[in-house]
Amino acid sequence: MQLQEILFSQGFGTRRICAGLIQHGHVTAAGHPVTDAAADFETEDLRFCVDGVEWPYQEKAYLMLHKPTGTECSRKPSAYPSIYTLLPPPLRQRPQKGATQGVQAVGRLDQDTTGLLLLTDDGQFIHRMNSPRHHVPKVYEVTVRHLLDEQQVSRLLGGVVLDDDPRPVRAAACELMEETRLRLTLTEGKYHQVKRMIAAVGNRVERLHRSRIGRLELPPDLLPGQWRWLSAADLAALAP
Ligand code: URA
Repeated sequence: MQLQEILFSQGFGTRRICAGLIQHGHVTAAGHPVTDAAADFETEDLRFCVDGVEWPYQEKAYLMLHKPTGTECSRKPSAYPSIYTLLPPPLRQRPQKGATQGVQAVGRLDQDTTGLLLLTDDGQFIHRMNSPRHHVPKVYEVTVRHLLDEQQVSRLLGGVVLDDDPRPVRAAACELMEETRLRLTLTEGKYHQVKRMIAAVGNRVERLHRSRIGRLELPPDLLPGQWRWLSAADLAALAP
Protein backbone atom coordinates (compact mmCIF):
# COMPACT_ATOMS: atom_id res chain seq x y z
CA MET A 1 0.00 0.00 0.00
CA GLN A 2 1.27 3.51 -0.75
CA LEU A 3 2.60 5.30 2.33
CA GLN A 4 0.22 8.24 1.91
CA GLU A 5 -2.69 5.78 1.78
CA ILE A 6 -1.38 4.05 4.92
CA LEU A 7 -1.26 7.32 6.85
CA PHE A 8 -4.71 8.26 5.57
CA SER A 9 -6.18 4.91 6.70
CA GLN A 10 -4.67 5.40 10.18
CA GLY A 11 -6.29 8.79 10.73
CA PHE A 12 -3.49 11.25 9.91
CA GLY A 13 -5.76 13.50 7.84
CA THR A 14 -6.75 13.86 4.21
CA ARG A 15 -4.64 12.21 1.53
CA ARG A 16 -3.18 15.63 0.74
CA ILE A 17 -2.19 16.27 4.35
CA CYS A 18 -0.65 12.78 4.55
CA ALA A 19 1.33 13.32 1.33
CA GLY A 20 2.58 16.65 2.77
CA LEU A 21 3.69 15.01 6.03
CA ILE A 22 5.74 12.48 4.06
CA GLN A 23 7.20 14.96 1.53
CA HIS A 24 8.25 17.34 4.31
CA GLY A 25 10.22 14.66 6.15
CA HIS A 26 7.94 13.98 9.11
CA VAL A 27 7.65 10.25 8.48
CA THR A 28 9.84 7.18 8.81
CA ALA A 29 8.54 3.74 7.84
CA ALA A 30 10.05 0.32 8.59
CA GLY A 31 12.93 2.16 10.25
CA HIS A 32 13.88 4.56 7.40
CA PRO A 33 13.00 8.16 6.53
CA VAL A 34 10.68 8.27 3.51
CA THR A 35 9.86 11.36 1.44
CA ASP A 36 8.12 9.64 -1.49
CA ALA A 37 4.40 9.68 -0.66
CA ALA A 38 3.78 6.92 -3.21
CA ALA A 39 6.40 4.53 -1.77
CA ASP A 40 4.90 1.05 -1.35
CA PHE A 41 4.95 -0.89 1.93
CA GLU A 42 3.64 -4.24 3.11
CA THR A 43 1.20 -3.31 5.85
CA GLU A 44 1.55 -6.51 7.86
CA ASP A 45 3.50 -5.75 11.05
CA LEU A 46 4.48 -2.34 9.63
CA ARG A 47 5.58 0.27 12.14
CA PHE A 48 5.98 3.87 11.11
CA CYS A 49 6.83 7.11 12.95
CA VAL A 50 5.20 10.50 12.49
CA ASP A 51 7.13 13.31 14.14
CA GLY A 52 9.00 10.76 16.23
CA VAL A 53 5.89 8.99 17.56
CA GLU A 54 5.71 5.33 16.61
CA TRP A 55 2.50 3.79 15.27
CA PRO A 56 1.73 0.20 14.32
CA TYR A 57 -0.34 -0.18 11.15
CA GLN A 58 -3.69 -1.61 12.20
CA GLU A 59 -6.46 -2.52 9.78
CA LYS A 60 -8.84 -2.18 12.74
CA ALA A 61 -7.84 -0.42 15.93
CA TYR A 62 -8.52 -2.05 19.32
CA LEU A 63 -7.55 -0.30 22.52
CA MET A 64 -8.28 -0.10 26.21
CA LEU A 65 -8.63 3.06 28.25
CA HIS A 66 -8.57 3.43 32.02
CA LYS A 67 -11.53 5.77 32.20
CA PRO A 68 -11.03 8.38 34.90
CA THR A 69 -13.89 9.82 36.90
CA GLY A 70 -15.40 13.08 35.65
CA THR A 71 -15.35 12.16 31.96
CA GLU A 72 -18.24 11.38 29.59
CA CYS A 73 -18.28 8.62 26.99
CA SER A 74 -20.09 10.87 24.52
CA ARG A 75 -18.37 12.70 21.67
CA LYS A 76 -20.53 15.71 22.52
CA PRO A 77 -20.44 15.75 26.30
CA SER A 78 -22.89 17.86 28.25
CA ALA A 79 -20.98 18.65 31.45
CA TYR A 80 -17.59 16.89 31.63
CA PRO A 81 -14.73 16.41 29.17
CA SER A 82 -15.19 13.63 26.64
CA ILE A 83 -13.08 10.48 26.97
CA TYR A 84 -12.15 11.02 23.31
CA THR A 85 -9.99 13.99 24.35
CA LEU A 86 -7.72 11.43 26.07
CA LEU A 87 -6.87 9.82 22.72
CA PRO A 88 -4.41 11.13 20.12
CA PRO A 89 -6.07 12.76 17.08
CA PRO A 90 -5.38 9.91 14.60
CA LEU A 91 -7.48 7.54 16.71
CA ARG A 92 -10.33 10.04 16.65
CA GLN A 93 -10.00 10.62 12.91
CA ARG A 94 -9.64 7.12 11.44
CA PRO A 95 -11.75 7.09 8.29
CA GLN A 96 -14.64 4.69 8.04
CA LYS A 97 -17.01 4.46 5.09
CA GLY A 98 -15.92 7.87 3.84
CA ALA A 99 -16.34 9.64 7.21
CA THR A 100 -13.68 10.46 9.81
CA GLN A 101 -15.44 8.51 12.49
CA GLY A 102 -12.52 7.27 14.56
CA VAL A 103 -12.72 4.64 17.27
CA GLN A 104 -15.85 4.30 19.38
CA ALA A 105 -16.34 3.24 22.97
CA VAL A 106 -17.67 -0.31 23.35
CA GLY A 107 -20.66 0.59 25.51
CA ARG A 108 -20.68 3.50 27.90
CA LEU A 109 -19.72 4.11 31.50
CA ASP A 110 -21.28 6.88 33.59
CA GLN A 111 -19.31 10.08 34.13
CA ASP A 112 -18.45 9.06 37.70
CA THR A 113 -17.59 5.42 36.86
CA THR A 114 -13.91 4.51 36.46
CA GLY A 115 -12.12 1.55 34.94
CA LEU A 116 -11.80 -0.61 31.87
CA LEU A 117 -13.28 0.77 28.66
CA LEU A 118 -12.62 -0.75 25.23
CA LEU A 119 -12.56 1.31 22.05
CA THR A 120 -12.45 0.19 18.44
CA ASP A 121 -13.55 0.94 14.89
CA ASP A 122 -14.65 -2.69 14.39
CA GLY A 123 -18.46 -2.62 14.37
CA GLN A 124 -18.81 -6.41 14.62
CA PHE A 125 -16.59 -6.48 17.69
CA ILE A 126 -18.71 -3.74 19.33
CA HIS A 127 -21.85 -5.71 18.59
CA ARG A 128 -20.45 -8.95 20.01
CA MET A 129 -19.19 -7.30 23.21
CA ASN A 130 -22.45 -5.45 23.84
CA SER A 131 -25.06 -7.97 22.80
CA PRO A 132 -26.73 -9.61 25.83
CA ARG A 133 -26.99 -12.78 23.70
CA HIS A 134 -23.23 -13.22 23.85
CA HIS A 135 -23.14 -13.06 27.66
CA VAL A 136 -19.76 -11.30 27.87
CA PRO A 137 -19.21 -10.86 31.63
CA LYS A 138 -18.38 -7.38 32.91
CA VAL A 139 -17.07 -7.17 36.45
CA TYR A 140 -17.71 -4.12 38.64
CA GLU A 141 -16.19 -3.24 42.00
CA VAL A 142 -19.01 -1.48 43.82
CA THR A 143 -18.74 0.61 46.97
CA VAL A 144 -22.11 1.31 48.56
CA ARG A 145 -23.34 3.73 51.21
CA HIS A 146 -25.07 1.33 53.64
CA LEU A 147 -23.92 -1.95 55.16
CA LEU A 148 -24.48 -4.91 52.87
CA ASP A 149 -25.99 -8.18 53.97
CA GLU A 150 -26.45 -11.66 52.52
CA GLN A 151 -30.08 -10.87 51.78
CA GLN A 152 -29.12 -8.03 49.43
CA VAL A 153 -26.58 -10.31 47.76
CA SER A 154 -29.14 -13.07 47.22
CA ARG A 155 -31.66 -10.59 45.82
CA LEU A 156 -29.06 -9.32 43.32
CA LEU A 157 -28.38 -12.92 42.32
CA GLY A 158 -32.04 -13.94 42.30
CA GLY A 159 -33.20 -10.99 40.22
CA VAL A 160 -34.58 -7.50 40.81
CA VAL A 161 -37.13 -5.60 38.74
CA LEU A 162 -36.04 -2.22 37.33
CA ASP A 163 -38.49 0.51 36.40
CA ASP A 164 -38.30 0.12 32.59
CA ASP A 165 -38.83 -3.65 32.24
CA PRO A 166 -41.04 -6.10 34.14
CA ARG A 167 -38.55 -8.92 33.58
CA PRO A 168 -36.12 -9.24 36.49
CA VAL A 169 -32.41 -8.62 35.88
CA ARG A 170 -29.91 -10.64 37.84
CA ALA A 171 -26.21 -10.53 38.54
CA ALA A 172 -24.27 -13.43 37.00
CA ALA A 173 -22.11 -13.36 40.15
CA CYS A 174 -22.02 -11.29 43.32
CA GLU A 175 -19.34 -11.49 45.99
CA LEU A 176 -19.41 -9.62 49.26
CA MET A 177 -15.88 -8.22 49.66
CA GLU A 178 -16.29 -5.93 52.68
CA GLU A 179 -19.17 -4.51 54.69
CA THR A 180 -19.81 -1.84 52.03
CA ARG A 181 -18.05 -3.34 49.03
CA LEU A 182 -19.06 -6.01 46.56
CA ARG A 183 -17.95 -7.43 43.25
CA LEU A 184 -20.79 -7.72 40.77
CA THR A 185 -20.69 -9.50 37.40
CA LEU A 186 -23.24 -8.58 34.73
CA THR A 187 -23.70 -10.05 31.27
CA GLU A 188 -25.89 -7.26 29.92
CA GLY A 189 -25.57 -3.49 30.00
CA LYS A 190 -28.81 -1.65 30.65
CA TYR A 191 -28.74 2.07 31.35
CA HIS A 192 -27.28 2.71 34.86
CA GLN A 193 -27.77 -0.99 35.51
CA VAL A 194 -25.52 -1.40 38.54
CA LYS A 195 -26.79 1.76 40.22
CA ARG A 196 -30.41 0.80 39.62
CA MET A 197 -29.92 -2.78 40.82
CA ILE A 198 -28.25 -1.57 44.00
CA ALA A 199 -31.04 0.97 44.53
CA ALA A 200 -33.61 -1.81 44.03
CA VAL A 201 -32.19 -3.66 47.06
CA GLY A 202 -32.37 -0.51 49.20
CA ASN A 203 -28.76 0.66 48.97
CA ARG A 204 -26.86 3.31 47.00
CA VAL A 205 -23.70 3.23 44.88
CA GLU A 206 -20.97 5.54 46.15
CA ARG A 207 -18.19 4.39 43.83
CA LEU A 208 -18.21 2.22 40.72
CA HIS A 209 -15.18 0.76 38.95
CA ARG A 210 -15.11 -1.76 36.09
CA SER A 211 -12.21 -4.13 36.62
CA ARG A 212 -12.74 -6.80 33.96
CA ILE A 213 -14.45 -7.55 30.64
CA GLY A 214 -14.52 -11.20 29.58
CA ARG A 215 -11.18 -12.57 30.81
CA LEU A 216 -9.42 -9.22 30.31
CA GLU A 217 -8.45 -7.43 33.54
CA LEU A 218 -7.64 -3.73 33.70
CA PRO A 219 -3.81 -3.82 34.02
CA PRO A 220 -2.66 -2.34 37.35
CA ASP A 221 -0.01 -0.21 35.58
CA LEU A 222 -2.53 1.47 33.28
CA LEU A 223 -3.29 4.62 35.24
CA PRO A 224 -6.53 6.63 35.05
CA GLY A 225 -6.57 8.55 31.76
CA GLN A 226 -4.03 6.26 30.04
CA TRP A 227 -4.76 4.06 27.03
CA ARG A 228 -2.94 1.23 25.25
CA TRP A 229 -3.38 -1.02 22.22
CA LEU A 230 -4.93 -4.42 22.85
CA SER A 231 -2.36 -7.19 22.34
CA ALA A 232 -3.15 -10.53 20.70
CA ALA A 233 -3.37 -12.00 24.21
CA ASP A 234 -5.85 -9.28 25.25
CA LEU A 235 -8.01 -10.00 22.20
CA ALA A 236 -7.87 -13.73 22.99
CA ALA A 237 -9.07 -12.92 26.53
CA LEU A 238 -12.12 -11.24 24.96
CA ALA A 239 -12.90 -14.09 22.56
CA PRO A 240 -15.93 -16.28 23.34
N1 URA B 1 -23.83 0.44 35.62
C1 URA B 1 -23.99 1.71 36.04
O1 URA B 1 -24.91 2.01 36.79
N2 URA B 1 -23.10 2.64 35.61
C2 URA B 1 -22.06 2.35 34.82
O2 URA B 1 -21.26 3.25 34.48
C3 URA B 1 -21.89 1.02 34.40
C4 URA B 1 -22.79 0.08 34.81
